[in-house]
Amino acid sequence: MCGIVGYVGRQGAAPIILEGLQRLEYRGYDSAGLAVVAENGHVEIRRDAGKLKNLCTRVEESPIHGRIGVGHTRWATHGPPTVRNAHPHRDRDGEIAVVHNGIVENFLELRSELQSLGYEFRSDTDTEVIVQLINHEYQAAGNLVQAVRRALQRLKGPSAVVVLSSHEPDKLIVARLGNAGGAVIGYGKGEMFIASDIPAILPHTRRMSFLENREMAVVMQDQVLFTDMSGKELAAKEIHDISWDAVSAAKGQYRHFMQKEIFEQANAITDTLRGRIDFVTGQVTLADLHLSDEVLQALHKVTIVACGTSYYAGLIGKYLIENLARLPVEVDFGSEYRYRHPILDTHTLVLAITQSGETVDTLAALEEARNHRAPTAVIVNAMGSQATRVSDGVITMQAGPEIGVASTKAFTTSLIDLLLLAMYLGQQRGVLDVTSSQQIAHELALLPERVGDVLAKDDHYQILARKYANYSDFLYLGRGINYPTALEGALKLKEISYIHAEGYPAGEMKHGPIALIDENMPTVVIGVRDGVYDKMVSQVEQVKARNGLVIAVVNPDDGAVGAKADDIIEVPETIEWLTPILAVVPLQLLAYHIAVWRGSDVDQPRNLAKSVTVE
Ligand code: AGP
Repeated sequence: MCGIVGYVGRQGAAPIILEGLQRLEYRGYDSAGLAVVAENGHVEIRRDAGKLKNLCTRVEESPIHGRIGVGHTRWATHGPPTVRNAHPHRDRDGEIAVVHNGIVENFLELRSELQSLGYEFRSDTDTEVIVQLINHEYQAAGNLVQAVRRALQRLKGPSAVVVLSSHEPDKLIVARLGNAGGAVIGYGKGEMFIASDIPAILPHTRRMSFLENREMAVVMQDQVLFTDMSGKELAAKEIHDISWDAVSAAKGQYRHFMQKEIFEQANAITDTLRGRIDFVTGQVTLADLHLSDEVLQALHKVTIVACGTSYYAGLIGKYLIENLARLPVEVDFGSEYRYRHPILDTHTLVLAITQSGETVDTLAALEEARNHRAPTAVIVNAMGSQATRVSDGVITMQAGPEIGVASTKAFTTSLIDLLLLAMYLGQQRGVLDVTSSQQIAHELALLPERVGDVLAKDDHYQILARKYANYSDFLYLGRGINYPTALEGALKLKEISYIHAEGYPAGEMKHGPIALIDENMPTVVIGVRDGVYDKMVSQVEQVKARNGLVIAVVNPDDGAVGAKADDIIEVPETIEWLTPILAVVPLQLLAYHIAVWRGSDVDQPRNLAKSVTVE
């Protein structure tokens, strides 16, 4: 979740940009930079890894003066966050600078095309392809706006981009492709602002417009011109009067952090994937896993330890690793693991999953592993947390900070990390072939847009929430890889709405829980076309035969499970390994809207804490 701030006007740009980036601090980042067109007429850049204060020091030591500029903060970028990968990136002539939020899915292809034209690349990022492409188009067009438009039309995948150049130093060009992070235009008096999020520029102006998908804006000191990607001028965009305070502004246009974080999942998944999978070859690289080849080849087993939502992610991880890497996997609660005196050795990889990186039970499980000299790794969101310090390897969720107590984007990005790990282990151990890897990569490339499609049906989930908000007991049923999805859906509902909800393996209904079914107990059934779809039809019939109410999560054109349900939630079809991600998003929103309807404190539910640092 990158942060972007741009400025053009009468004041010095650097202080405004740095102050704006600090206001995006809640988004977290591990590198930052800014570019201005300096008084000498050239583009000057300052960048640094680590916290924003490092960049501020660098600018203090070596000031840059100019009245037009752009800045960027990057969250948990792929691999060690280095200066060379920090934004802004500049073209080979040094007179065009770009900052970017999103993913260029075809950057490998574009990079080799540019390399064949003699371009050399100085970073590992996909972003650098954008600025060199603009350089190439500018040589032909001689006009910056045209060059930017032609270059962006070549990009595949969601991106928000801001361009600055000394060729035309009176304008910033901003564009939004797909559902990449926001692009906000702020209107001042004789000055204009650009930001990825409202808080960054709120102190300067409350008058803002928002770019939509495939829209561009040419922003100058006293005017802004909106066009589509073909260059056709758009009618003037609505100017909103933003009346938020800073904290509520951090929620953006959302009512709660949980709601915001649910809607960030398409972007978060994009960030999680960034630079870790080659979408053409399917090859996965996990630079920070630090598992040597000999350790990898000697592995006999993986043990996943976690708590709560992270534990449910681990249960899904079991399916992924056992199927794609052919390694036995056991999954245990962090709070149980150390008390069962686990059989551990150097051939067992102990993998922790923890959003906060501070959950004491999960940390204790990692300590148990280290005491037995077992290799360890952690899937974690919070950079610099204790779990990252005590594990041999780290796979970051790269989801951006998760502030709502109920975990949402951490769950779905954990599943992405688990899939990447399963693929990596399978590839390294020679049991996952190229064709299978390419098929998964193809579906991963489509996933952010599909998550966006599911999120776009929020009105439907609100209607269902109103219909079912007053029931006092729910059952969630899933099978196979979506049994843990049912557990997670139930946990979301119970922890924020305080309704009793139970996730259960659908095949177990006849062994007891079916006695609970009657017209007062809605049952949520996950009936997507995964490996056990056919089995779910009879489950729905069993519930309906006892007058139970059924909400079914299904794929389009479902004639079986959906036909028997009282209400259906349609999600796009995908490969089995990705079905939990598309199925859980509507369950997150169903729980959210029921909780709001019932007046719960959604972001801080009673009795709960975001990170359980006590036993
Ligand atoms: C999930 O919505 C809860 N917030 C809780 O179960 C959480 O997943 C659990 O406490 C584990 O937290 P962690 O991922 O930070 O270790």
